[in-house]
Amino acid sequence: MTAPGSGMAASVAVPLLLLGVAVVAAGCGYKSCPPTRPDLLNVHLVPHTHDDVGWLKTVEQYFYGVRNEVQHAGVQYILDSVVAQLVAEPTRRFIYAEVAFLARWWQLQDEATRDTVRQLVEQGRLELVGGGWSMADEAVTHYSAGLEQLGLGRGFLRRALGPCAPPRLAWQIDPFGHSRQSAATFAQMGYDGLFLGRVDHQDKAQREQRRELELLWRTSGSLRSPGSDLFTGILPNVYNPPTGFCWDQLCSDPPVVDGDSEENNVASIVSTFLDIATKQAEHYRTNHIIMTMGSDFHYENANLWFKNMDKLIAHVNAQQANGSRVHVLYSTPSCYLWELHQANLSWSLKMDDFFPYSDGPHQFWTGFFTSRPALKRYERLSNNFLQICSQLEALAGPAARDGPYGPGDSSVLREAVAVAQHHDAVTGTEKQHVANDYAKQLAIGWERCQLLVSNALSSLSGTKETFTFCNSLNISVCPLTEASSRFLVLLYNPLGRRVSWPIRLPVHGVSYTVTDPRGQPVPSEVVPVSIVTHGLRGNGIGAMQELLFQASAPALGFSTFTVTRSPHGHPRVPPVQPPVLPQPWDIHNEHLRVLFDPLTGHLKEIQNLAKNISLPVFQSYYWYNASVGNDESSQASGAYIFRPNSSEPIPVSVSKRISTSLVQNALVQEVHQTFSSWCSQVVRLYAGQPYVELEWTVGPIPVEDGWGKEIISRFQTPLQTRARFYTDSNGRQILERRRDYRPTWNLSQTEPVAGNYYPVTSRIFIKDKKVQLTVLTDRSQGGSSISDGSLELMVHRRLLYDDNRGVEEPLLEPGADRRGLVVRGRHLLLLDTVQAAADGHRLRAQELFMAPYPVLAPGGGALPTGPSSNACRSSQRCAGSCLPASIS
Ligand SMILES: *[C@@H]1O[C@H](CO)[C@@H](O)[C@H](O)[C@H]1NC(C)=O
Ligand SMILES: *[C@@H]1O[C@H](CO)[C@@H](O)[C@H](O)[C@H]1NC(C)=O
Ligand SMILES: *[C@@H]1O[C@H](CO)[C@@H](O)[C@H](O)[C@H]1NC(C)=O
Ligand SMILES: *[C@@H]1O[C@H](CO)[C@@H](O)[C@H](O)[C@H]1NC(C)=O
Ligand SMILES: *[C@@H]1O[C@H](CO)[C@@H](O)[C@H](O)[C@H]1NC(C)=O
Ligand SMILES: *[C@@H]1O[C@H](CO)[C@@H](O)[C@H](O)[C@H]1NC(C)=O
Ligand SMILES: *[C@@H]1O[C@H](CO)[C@@H](O)[C@H](O)[C@H]1NC(C)=O
Ligand SMILES: [Zn+2]
Repeated sequence: MTAPGSGMAASVAVPLLLLGVAVVAAGCGYKSCPPTRPDLLNVHLVPHTHDDVGWLKTVEQYFYGVRNEVQHAGVQYILDSVVAQLVAEPTRRFIYAEVAFLARWWQLQDEATRDTVRQLVEQGRLELVGGGWSMADEAVTHYSAGLEQLGLGRGFLRRALGPCAPPRLAWQIDPFGHSRQSAATFAQMGYDGLFLGRVDHQDKAQREQRRELELLWRTSGSLRSPGSDLFTGILPNVYNPPTGFCWDQLCSDPPVVDGDSEENNVASIVSTFLDIATKQAEHYRTNHIIMTMGSDFHYENANLWFKNMDKLIAHVNAQQANGSRVHVLYSTPSCYLWELHQANLSWSLKMDDFFPYSDGPHQFWTGFFTSRPALKRYERLSNNFLQICSQLEALAGPAARDGPYGPGDSSVLREAVAVAQHHDAVTGTEKQHVANDYAKQLAIGWERCQLLVSNALSSLSGTKETFTFCNSLNISVCPLTEASSRFLVLLYNPLGRRVSWPIRLPVHGVSYTVTDPRGQPVPSEVVPVSIVTHGLRGNGIGAMQELLFQASAPALGFSTFTVTRSPHGHPRVPPVQPPVLPQPWDIHNEHLRVLFDPLTGHLKEIQNLAKNISLPVFQSYYWYNASVGNDESSQASGAYIFRPNSSEPIPVSVSKRISTSLVQNALVQEVHQTFSSWCSQVVRLYAGQPYVELEWTVGPIPVEDGWGKEIISRFQTPLQTRARFYTDSNGRQILERRRDYRPTWNLSQTEPVAGNYYPVTSRIFIKDKKVQLTVLTDRSQGGSSISDGSLELMVHRRLLYDDNRGVEEPLLEPGADRRGLVVRGRHLLLLDTVQAAADGHRLRAQELFMAPYPVLAPGGGALPTGPSSNACRSSQRCAGSCLPASIS
C-alpha cells in the first residue's frame, strides 16, 4: 500500500488500547505493576542491559566474556548477577531482551535456578521485552526472516519460562531508524507498545517541543485500525541513563554516598536528579516518565547498579516529606505503558516511518543500507533456503530428520538466520572477524539443512540418489555438473504457485539433452562462461560453458530434470568470448525490447511491447568519493554513515564508450558491458520472462588513490517524477519518498545525497501518471532519486576511514584473496503501466526471496522421471513431479 505523500501530518488523535490486558493471567503482566502516586510525578526507573548479539566480538565471545581487551563484556555473568540481585530485594526489577543469549544461559542452569527465574518472571520482577532471538535491524531485514526470528524467540520464552514470559512490548532501542513494516508486524502479533531509542535529531527536537515523543503509529495503509495501530514511545536519552547516574562498573560516575561519610553527596545527587526529572517531564504528557538505567553490556556486577538505585529511590522519595513532588520507583516499560493507558489521553497519529536516521547535521546513517553487500545477500539467500528446509521438513515428516544422509536439522540454520537479523549483523556494522563468524554460522546451518533436504527428497521421491548442492553457482562452479555426462536437477519451489525459473549450470560439453519429469525434451542452450566469471573463480580453471534451460516446478513441490551430454553434438558455441557487438543494437523477447546506444554501448531505451510503452532509460555505474570529514563537519563516510565528498558522482568508465559483446540464442539474449577492470554488467533477457535482468559484478574497488568509493547504478529517464520515488518497507509495504522532505516535520537538509537515501529491501520505483519503472533487488541496498526521473541504487562500498560509531575499523572488506571483495548481484527491471505495475513487482519480488533451489544428483538411473514410476507413493499426487496430496 502506498501511504499518502502529503496531508499526513499528525493531526488525528487516537486513544491507546492495550490488547494484552485481556489475555494476561492473574499475577503477571500489568497486574504485577508497582504502586504509583497519582498526585506526584512518577519516575519509572527501568534497569536494563543492551547485549548486542555480536558486534565488536562474536556471539560466543560476548556470552563468555572472551577477549575482554576488545570490549569488556560477558553476558553469562550479567544474567547470573542480575538474578541474584533480584532475589535479594523484591522491589527491584529488570528487563531483558536478547533471547539468543538468554537461551544460551538457560541451557547451563540447574533446575533450582530455572525455577527461581520462572518465579521472577511470574511476579513481573524480571520482564522479557522484544522477544526476538535478537533485536532485529529494521532497514535491511526482510519481513519473512523477521517473523522467523520473533517466532523463534517467543517460542523459547513460552516453553522455558511459561505463559507470562512472551513480551507484550517491543523494545527496539538501538536499531538505526525504524520501519513501518516492523511496527506492523508487532501490531499484528498483538504487542501493546513499542519503545524506540534512535530517531532523527531534528524530528526528536521538534517532538520534544510539541510533546509528541509518544504517539500512535498507524502501521498499515491496508489493514484496519485499531488492529494495526501501535503505541510508540521515544525514550528520552536513547537507552542510556541520565548524565551523572551511570553506576555500572563500566562507568565512572560517583556512587551515592550517604551516612556520616565526609564523601556524603546525597544532597547534590538528589537535587541533580530532581532537576533532570522535572526537565524531562516538560517533554512528556503525563505525570509518569521513564528512565533507562543501563547501557551496553551493563550489570555484569549488578550490585553496583542496584545498590545505588536503592539509595537514590530512598533519598529522593524522602524529600516528599519536605514537599517534593517527585516519586521514583523501580519499574518496567510495560508498567510505564500501563500508567499511560490509565491516563486516557489521545495521542498524535503517525503514518510514515523513521527513515533515514541522523544523529546530527551531515550524519546520516544511510551507508549501512549497503555495507557488506555479500553478507547481505548471504543472509537473504539463507532465509530462502531455510524456508525450503522447513517446508521439506514438514512435507517429509520424521524421515527428513532421520534419513540415509545423516541427521538433518533446520534449527541450526534458523538460529543462524535469527542471529543475522541483529542490528549489527546484516547491517554490516560489525568488525570484520565478527562478519566472518556470522557467515560461518550460516554455513554450518546450511550443511545441516542440506542433509535434511536430501533426506526429505529421498523419502518423497523414493530413491537413494547422492544429492549434492552447488553453493557457488553465482560464479558458475559446480563439480558435479562439470564432471558428469549425465545428471539430475531437482528444483524445489517454496512458493504457493507454479513458477518457471532459468537454470544455469557450468558444463564442459557443448551439447546436451534436457528432459522434464515426463521425459519430454526441454529446450536448452550452451553458452560460453564470460571472462568476468572466469576471473571471479580466481584459480583460472573450471568449466568453459554454461548449460541453460527454463525449469518449472509446482507449488510447494519439485520437478526433476534429466541432463545428458550428447555424444555427437556439434559445438554450437564458440569456445571463447563472443565477438564484440557490431549489430544489432537491441535485444528483445516477446515482452520487452532493450535498445543500446551504438556509440557509447550504454542502455538507452526500454520498450514494453504488449503495452506499447517505450521509455528512454540511460543506465551506468558511478562512484561517490567518500568524505573523510571537512571544516563543516568532521564526519567521515563509514560502515554506518554515508557522506559523499561531492554530490556529483564520478563515472566508473573513464572513456565515453564502454566495451560490449553479445550472446544470443533462442533462450537468452545478453549484452555484456565492461565499465572498468573492476565493474561490469550483463544486460539479459530470458525468453518468456517479463523483466530485464542486470547482473552486476563490482570489485575489488580500487582505493590505492587514497579515496574511499561508494558505487552506484543510476538510471536516468525523462519521467516527470515531481521529486517523488517509492521504496519498500522490509519487502512488504511500499512508502512514498519525497526528496528533501519529511512528512511530519520541516526538514533542514544538510546532505543533498545521503539525506535522501532510503533502505531498499526488495524494490524501488519511479513513475509518472502513466508509466512505472521498477527495480527489484536480490538483497538490501540504499537507494534514491537524486533528480527527477532518475533512480539509483548503491551496490558496493569500500572505505578507508572509520565513521566514529564504535566499530573502530574502516569498511575495507579484503575478500578471500585480500585484494578487496568482489560482489555479484542482480537487479530486475520492470517497465509497465502504473495500474499493472503493482502486481508485477509483488510477484517478481516473491520469486526473488522465495526462489526455487536446484539440488543435483548423478542420476544412476534410480530416480524415476516418468509419471508411471513409483516415485510418488500412494499418499502423493503425481504428475511427473511430486506433491503430497494433502496440500494440493
Ligand atoms: C527536610 O527539611 C528540614 C529543614 O530544612 C531538614 O532538617 C530535614 O533534614 C529535611 N528532610 C529530608 C528528608 O531531607
Ligand atoms: C476517557 O476519555 C474519554 C474522552 O476523551 C471519555 O469519554 C471517557 O469517559 C474517559 N474514560 C475514562 C475511564 O476516564
Ligand atoms: C503505440 O504508441 C504510439 C505512440 O505512443 C502510437 O502512435 C501508436 O498508435 C501506438 N500503437 C498502438 C498499437 O497502440
Ligand atoms: C576525492 O576527495 C578528496 C578529498 O577527500 C579530494 O582530494 C579528491 O580530489 C577527490 N577526488 C576526485 C576524483 O574528485
Ligand atoms: C571534499 O574535498 C575537498 C578537497 O579536499 C574539500 O575541500 C571539501 O571540504 C570536501 N567536502 C566534504 C563534504 O568532505
Ligand atoms: C513547517 O513550516 C510551515 C511554514 O513555515 C508551517 O506552516 C508548518 O506548520 C510547519 N510544519 C511543522 C510540522 O512544523
Ligand atoms: C556467491 O555467493 C556466496 C554465498 O552463497 C557469497 O559468499 C559470495 O560472496 C558470492 N560471490 C559473489 C562474487 O558475489
Ligand atoms: Zn546494539
